[in-house]
Amino acid sequence: MNEQETSKLTQILEQYYEKTSEMIVFLNSKGQVINMNQAARRVISEDNQSSLTHAICSRCEGYSNEFAIQSCRECFLESTTIGNSSFQVYMQTNSGKVEPFTATYQTISQEDDVKVYTLQNVSPQIERQQKLHQQTMMQKTISAQENERKRISRELHDGVVQELLNVSVELRLLKYQDNIENLKTQSQHIERLMSKLIDDTRNLSLELRPSSLDDLGLNAAFKSYFKQLEKNFGFIVHYHNDSDDIRFNNEIETVVYRIVQEAVFNALKYGQVDSVDVHMSCESNFIEVEVADQGVGFVLGSEPKGSGLGIYGMQERAEIVGGTFNIESKVGKGTNIKLTVPIA
Ligand SMILES: Nc1ncnc2c1ncn2[C@@H]1O[C@H](COP(=O)(O)OP(=O)(O)OP(=O)(O)O)[C@@H](O)[C@H]1O
Ligand SMILES: [Mg+2]
Repeated sequence: MNEQETSKLTQILEQYYEKTSEMIVFLNSKGQVINMNQAARRVISEDNQSSLTHAICSRCEGYSNEFAIQSCRECFLESTTIGNSSFQVYMQTNSGKVEPFTATYQTISQEDDVKVYTLQNVSPQIERQQKLHQQTMMQKTISAQENERKRISRELHDGVVQELLNVSVELRLLKYQDNIENLKTQSQHIERLMSKLIDDTRNLSLELRPSSLDDLGLNAAFKSYFKQLEKNFGFIVHYHNDSDDIRFNNEIETVVYRIVQEAVFNALKYGQVDSVDVHMSCESNFIEVEVADQGVGFVLGSEPKGSGLGIYGMQERAEIVGGTFNIESKVGKGTNIKLTVPIA
């Protein structure tokens, strides 16, 4: 490049530097700002230039990596692997808002100790993506609700109503029976039909919402649900509860119950095991619940075998009560879910 071309390029670069919406900050390795363009002043404040704190770090609210949406683990400022590739970062702007950006962080000159940090705001794209994700999840939830209603309706129609019809026919026949022995046998038969009917209705009602949860709390509801699983599927739940019969607020009890119910049912459906461990403990300010199976495990995020709404629902429910939900699974080793819920 001759002198004229170099001067022209410098001029263009200067114009680009000041006019672009891309935020560009030049720093040294201590994190002091050497120079930044107009756009970057929205995020990196002037008073940071001579301060001892790292100009990026003082504004950074964590970046996205393979472990978390927002994390400081393996910080990109120290990482040697992130290099020239772009990544997503959350920065606090001068207005105090935390916004998502696509960022790059590169060394321009090792000798002169110059690094460049660039940022591009991706809030609109992320908002759109979240909206789309919410829409898809909403559609899936509605369709899951409909399927559940269909299942209950079928169960009522084919099970409960059919059995009631049987009882009604048997009762009608009873009035023509004048042999006392036959009368006895027939009434015993009706008794058996009734007892089956009671069992079926109880199962259905327990599945929908166990009354023991409202009346007696989590411990009683778990015991009755696990007993039912053993009776219906031969599936054993090794249940340990250090918190005995302590009552929590209704919302927390429902969330904990539903998450454990889903996790245990997942172990039963997909784990290829005949038992699962459920451990619940209660500290002074939080409840901790773990559900662990030693089954086939699965790769998180892979194509689900069912609707794939359960894990999403567990996460959503945990968030409702300000709790944290974590799932770990290893193929061939098993699956472990851990829920922590703060209590007042
Ligand atoms: N304990 C487990 N062992 C093995 N695979 C599991 C286990 N739990 C979940 N999975 C896998 O993860 C997928 C997603 O589970 P999730 O509970 O989100 O949805 P689902 O059970 O498929 O559907 P839904 O819960 O809506 O009925 C399952 O389809 C299954 O492939
Ligand atoms: Mg499930």
